[in-house]
Amino acid sequence: MPMNVLRVAVIGFGVVGRGFAKALLRRRRTLAEEFNLNLEVVAISDLKWGSVYDEDGLDLERCLSIVESGGSLEDYPSGVKGLSSLETIREAEYDVMVELTPTNVETGEPGLTHIAEALRMGRHVVTTNKGPISLAYWDLTEMAEERGVSLRFEGTVMSGTPVLSLLREGLGGDLVEEVYGILNGTNNFILTQMEAGKSFEEALREAQRLGYAEADPTMDVEGWDAAAKAAIIANAVMGGRMKPQDVRREGITGVTSEEVVKAVREGKRVKHVARVWREGGRVYASVAVEKLPLSHPLSTVTGVKNALVARTENLGEVFVTGPGAGGVETGQAVLSDVLAIYRLHYR
Ligand code: HSE
Repeated sequence: MPMNVLRVAVIGFGVVGRGFAKALLRRRRTLAEEFNLNLEVVAISDLKWGSVYDEDGLDLERCLSIVESGGSLEDYPSGVKGLSSLETIREAEYDVMVELTPTNVETGEPGLTHIAEALRMGRHVVTTNKGPISLAYWDLTEMAEERGVSLRFEGTVMSGTPVLSLLREGLGGDLVEEVYGILNGTNNFILTQMEAGKSFEEALREAQRLGYAEADPTMDVEGWDAAAKAAIIANAVMGGRMKPQDVRREGITGVTSEEVVKAVREGKRVKHVARVWREGGRVYASVAVEKLPLSHPLSTVTGVKNALVARTENLGEVFVTGPGAGGVETGQAVLSDVLAIYRLHYR
């Protein structure tokens, strides 16, 4: 049987874009053997690293080595160079546009325009970009539905740990009454490091070096990233209509090392907790610093790990934990979404 080919255009080749390339390279043989699928990346476009489009497919190892040695994708030996992200979206031939540019929770840009344009052109979209999904979930979903294409965004919450598919598909038919958890890897990493004696600044630098933090890390430490994730859960899981700006928000910048260490002496742990709940027919959300007993399930979640508890009508409490940030980890979410699109539309 000839191999099925799904052509992917990657917009944004930062930590997550490269993480997706690495996750795909690791799993490529399995995709061929188990799913008879060749996931072919035909275009990559990035503001910093340049762009290349080759309809015959790109050698991802080569693209990675060019960028990781500080070169430009324009040095790739074949294909069309110099297309902007929007030109790539409009002019390249592909099936799925993968949008992985940095998050902006005020405007959603440039991701919002990229996603709307790809949907307008009838292309499936996968994104890990929290800006567009937290700000325009309903509009984008309507656009995708009108055109009969998929819009998937598993990696926007808890990176590759599959919580959105669990909440939206796995718990299908149940009523999710409340979701709460640790939704920012950087902040949880910083709090854990502070407990071990590191300063806030040192821990943040380490989180940046490891590729956990946002391009602008104030998004993490001031709680915007967790607020965007809470808004995504509120809208896409619980039917709410809210923006990150509607989430009651507290970051971790006011937390001192003394406070973190003292909490442990008192049998507690300082955690940055997001909550989304139903009340009087409406959905509300908050992110705040909380001191939880050491015996609380969220207190056992340390480092870059995240965790989420969903309280539902039919199941009671469901607890999920796993990586909350990281290139390959978030790249895995992209891979699972692209595969879901393949299963739904191409088999
Ligand atoms: N900066 C985010 C975090 C990345 O630390 O959780 C994953 O969304």
